[in-house]
Amino acid sequence: MTVFGESHGPAVAVVIDGCPAGLQLAIEDIQVELDRRMPPDPNLTSARREKDEVQILSGIFEGFTTGAPVAILAMNRDVRSQDYEKLKFVARPGHADYPTRIKFGSFNDLRGGGRASGRMTVPITMAGAIAKKLLRTIGVEVFAHTVQIHTVKVDRYLPSETIKRNAYSNSVRCADQETAEKMKEAIMKTRGEGDSLGGVVECIAEGVPPGVGEPFFDSLDADLAKVTFSIPAVKGFEVGLGFQASAVKGSENNDSYTVREGRVETLTNNAGGILGGLSNGMPVVVRVAFKPPSSIPKEQKTVNLREMKDTTVQVTGRHDPCIVPKAVPVVEAAVAIVLIDHCLRTGKIPRVLGRKPVDEVSERAKPQQPH
Ligand SMILES: Cc1cc2nc3c(=O)[nH]c(=O)nc-3n(C[C@H](O)[C@H](O)[C@H](O)COP(=O)(O)O)c2cc1C
Repeated sequence: MTVFGESHGPAVAVVIDGCPAGLQLAIEDIQVELDRRMPPDPNLTSARREKDEVQILSGIFEGFTTGAPVAILAMNRDVRSQDYEKLKFVARPGHADYPTRIKFGSFNDLRGGGRASGRMTVPITMAGAIAKKLLRTIGVEVFAHTVQIHTVKVDRYLPSETIKRNAYSNSVRCADQETAEKMKEAIMKTRGEGDSLGGVVECIAEGVPPGVGEPFFDSLDADLAKVTFSIPAVKGFEVGLGFQASAVKGSENNDSYTVREGRVETLTNNAGGILGGLSNGMPVVVRVAFKPPSSIPKEQKTVNLREMKDTTVQVTGRHDPCIVPKAVPVVEAAVAIVLIDHCLRTGKIPRVLGRKPVDEVSERAKPQQPH
């Protein structure tokens, strides 16, 4: 997968290699995921409201993937580059401006954060839509929800069905309505103070067959960490019990096995569905921590890189006061992309999915053999 584009360039896009032939795919399959990336309450997100109309450029013929690279793009239309003029030499604390300038000099396109913009999660989400649809062909479902904004946490167990039903029913993407209200209030209050908040997204993949992954460097958990860490603003990653596993005893951490309806299952899922880099057949459960976005109107100390002098900056313009609600479908996409890669490697999904309906017509059209 190659993602390309910049925040204020003409478009953001993705090219996906190795997508099996024969997946029925319409623009709506991708559009629905992009629309989920834009929470309905405008007070909780940046004032930049892109329509993100999907265009498929290659890899689809007569409604099915062909096995050729799939190229998809969304144009950038709601662009206001003048906001970035004053940031040319003033590095925003917490953003990618300073190290990017050191690496690429002043060639870097800093408008809207350039390549380090949250806009780059649009192509990830588009690729994820295809990965999710492919995973559904083998009964794998990937879903995520917000479990924490700043110090407001979901503090009770939520069954999968509740998460699937409720997560997208509110603007913070939290499956517990009461907590969702508190999260919303926290974001609004902090935005009013000219500041921002971070949080945690939990993602679950159900139906992953056992034995998917690799035992070493490309282990399932290592790849999940790598791809989710590629999402801007991600600062932490956990599988299953995660960091908490370091504070319990072996007897408490081990997931005991049992046989249920002829299948091996575990009684608990502290491993988060992954052991030795391979799926164990239980739901894959990961949690991803997002920092508070750095572009805030509150005054902060920084430097002017041309004058090499200390100065201050107040980042105005259009920015998210909290990334987490937008990031929920992005985390789903990242997890689905890793799972589909490993399912293809392990041969759980074939390179050609069945036969095109038209082949059946031609079968029937064949001359009948005399009896
Ligand atoms: C969906 C999404 C939206 C984002 N929106 C903003 C934003 O409005 N303002 C901002 O300063 N950072 C935003 N970010 C975070 C920056 O892109 C990120 O902090 C920056 O690239 C530096 O990378 P790092 O935080 O991973 O080190 C967003 C990230 C995501 C995933």
